[in-house]
Amino acid sequence: MADTDGVTESKQFHENVPQEHDGFFLKGSNSYDWGLKNRLARIFNPASGNTVMLAFDHGYFQGPTTGLERVDLNINPLIPYADTLMLTRGILRSVIPPESNKSIVLRASGGPSILKELSDEGIAVDIEESVRLNVCAMAVQVFIGGEHEKQSILNMTKLVDLGTKYGIPVLAVTAVGKEMVRDAKYFRLATRICAELGAHYIKTYFVEDGFDTVTSCCPVPIVIAGGKKLPELDALRMASNAIAQGANGVDMGRNIFQSSAPTAMIQAVRKVVHEGASPEEAHEFYEKEAERA
Ligand code: R5P
Repeated sequence: MADTDGVTESKQFHENVPQEHDGFFLKGSNSYDWGLKNRLARIFNPASGNTVMLAFDHGYFQGPTTGLERVDLNINPLIPYADTLMLTRGILRSVIPPESNKSIVLRASGGPSILKELSDEGIAVDIEESVRLNVCAMAVQVFIGGEHEKQSILNMTKLVDLGTKYGIPVLAVTAVGKEMVRDAKYFRLATRICAELGAHYIKTYFVEDGFDTVTSCCPVPIVIAGGKKLPELDALRMASNAIAQGANGVDMGRNIFQSSAPTAMIQAVRKVVHEGASPEEAHEFYEKEAERA
């Protein structure tokens, strides 16, 4: 058993040395089977290597979130601008047109509502259901340091076993409890544990200080959640900084669907994530589009 003496700050993350990934465009993903790679290539754009995932699965624990009261009206107009939709099977079947032809990342864990202990999740979708719905990945919440840490990790490893068998990647979502410090040290711990235990890619939060150390010591792709609604320019700056420091995209919800001009905002996010636009250029685009709409 390794002791915890190694958990010090005197480490070398080699932030400026990209990990080699010959053979397949995504970091750490070259040894997967064809189906798994193909699904990842439907989530991440092989040209830019990045993704704009539109996240609107919030209802699975908090009901009709602000901006998601009517997914048909709030989200469906945004679908053409997303690379991937992250959602629950209930919303997928009831609201999303099958003709939309977007890759799907299915919320595959759940259980408690906001009225209970959130880390007490289980796997909430059968693998056969994921196959039936033709999803490109299954998303599972992992609560490192949370009350039900082990249970959430084992939810993830079970899904990794099933996903690997059927060629469906698993997205580990690092969920941070209210009592946890959101810093690079915590996210290095959380993302690395998820990668070591088999997650194919990982969603985490951006931190201002040391985010490049989080991406550099995580051997698989990282995407950032948007988090609470920010002014549009700040959200674009966050996305831009994350990409510059090694993230492979965003899994953004509230900063898009709670924007006063969501269609303009998702297109502005695309400019940052796929075209390397500066936050200021993307924001200028946003303002023009918002005015036009
Ligand atoms: C939260 O648990 C959900 O998984 C969301 O998909 C995630 O937090 C991303 O959404 P937002 O950008 O609103 O944080």
